[in-house]
Amino acid sequence: MTAGDLTTVTGAETKTVCVTGAGGYIASWLVKLLLEKGYTVKGTVRNPDDRKNDHLRALDGAKERLILCKADLLDYDALRLAIEGCQGVFHTASPVTDDPEEMVEPAVRGTKYVIDAAADVGTVRRIVFTSSIGAVTMDPNRAQDVVVDESCWSDLEYCKKTKNWYCYGKAVAEKAAVEDAKERGIDLVVVNPVLVIGPLLQPTVNASIMHILKYLDGSAKKYTNAVQAYVDVRDVAQAHVRVYEAEEASGRYLCAESVLHREDVVRILAKFFPEYPIPTKCSDEVNPRKQPYKISNKRLRDLGLEFTPVSESLYETVKSLQEKGHLPILSPSNHFSANYMLLD
Ligand SMILES: NC(=O)c1ccc[n+]([C@@H]2O[C@H](COP(=O)([O-])OP(=O)(O)OC[C@H]3O[C@@H](n4cnc5c(N)ncnc54)[C@H](OP(=O)(O)O)[C@@H]3O)[C@@H](O)[C@H]2O)c1
Repeated sequence: MTAGDLTTVTGAETKTVCVTGAGGYIASWLVKLLLEKGYTVKGTVRNPDDRKNDHLRALDGAKERLILCKADLLDYDALRLAIEGCQGVFHTASPVTDDPEEMVEPAVRGTKYVIDAAADVGTVRRIVFTSSIGAVTMDPNRAQDVVVDESCWSDLEYCKKTKNWYCYGKAVAEKAAVEDAKERGIDLVVVNPVLVIGPLLQPTVNASIMHILKYLDGSAKKYTNAVQAYVDVRDVAQAHVRVYEAEEASGRYLCAESVLHREDVVRILAKFFPEYPIPTKCSDEVNPRKQPYKISNKRLRDLGLEFTPVSESLYETVKSLQEKGHLPILSPSNHFSANYMLLD
């Protein structure tokens, strides 16, 4: 389907939504889910002709109900064209980098343009904004025993001082989005995913999958003394649709399954896939082992979301990396498909 068919679509269809950055890791699963649920989807990509977006055209329902629109986050007019005729917007596009120049302006100004465009077209019922755990946990003053929930915010000065420009950009973009939406009278709901893993639809390896791949392909010789919260990409897509569809949804929704130390991650990976050169030693032999913090996913569970166990997501991440040719299949794995159940 092309943008030229739009009049027909919007005339006949009441469930049209826009997904920005449609070809990305999370957005591809979101587009898939929305198409399965009968929505017409206008997906923005920077280059609709790039073969890296072919997986979107291959999705069930794409031929009939997916329109790819060319739009950069810094191009208000292109965003507005993409949002025209939509009742909902899922704003997932964002640079994912710690380069301050590449990160901050597209994240912040792009989000403002999306909100302005949604307000200007006048048909949008709700925007769902994909923020991040990076806007939540970067706070050196949070006590270890505090349960991280939607009231927590990253400390912008600390993000700057530690050059965490991704977290800084996401936190500033989220704060600005809330303000802009209020000013423009737009209903905005925020999803804050933690590190996202699970199978890939897109052909390329995104940053959060690289976090796992480096433990399998020999590039990480040791694991760090660090903890991280994880969630499955299919649950993140579900979370977006649930907060969009639930009339009563409002504010922020932390999207997290569990918090693991890196040692737990490599242990699970090695149990399933012992044939890979998975590190067995920590790079920090001096400091005590970092303790996982507690995080609440109650708000999404209250909307009916059931989270995939992290060991299952890790298993499926690796299978997907093998299937997509990012990891060689070294030898028949000594596992059976439900083995992950035994690890929890
Ligand atoms: N993956 C995670 O662990 C994680 C966790 C928390 C939050 N998030 C958030 O989830 C969203 C999606 O992340 P992802 O992991 O799916 O990353 P991804 O695969 O790298 O996707 C990012 C998308 O943003 C688009 N994009 C980047 N800069 C753009 C620009 N200037 N103009 C237009 N589009 C632009 C990219 O488009 P192109 O294809 O044209 O490059 C790509 O489609 C982001 O907002 C990210 O901050 C991700």
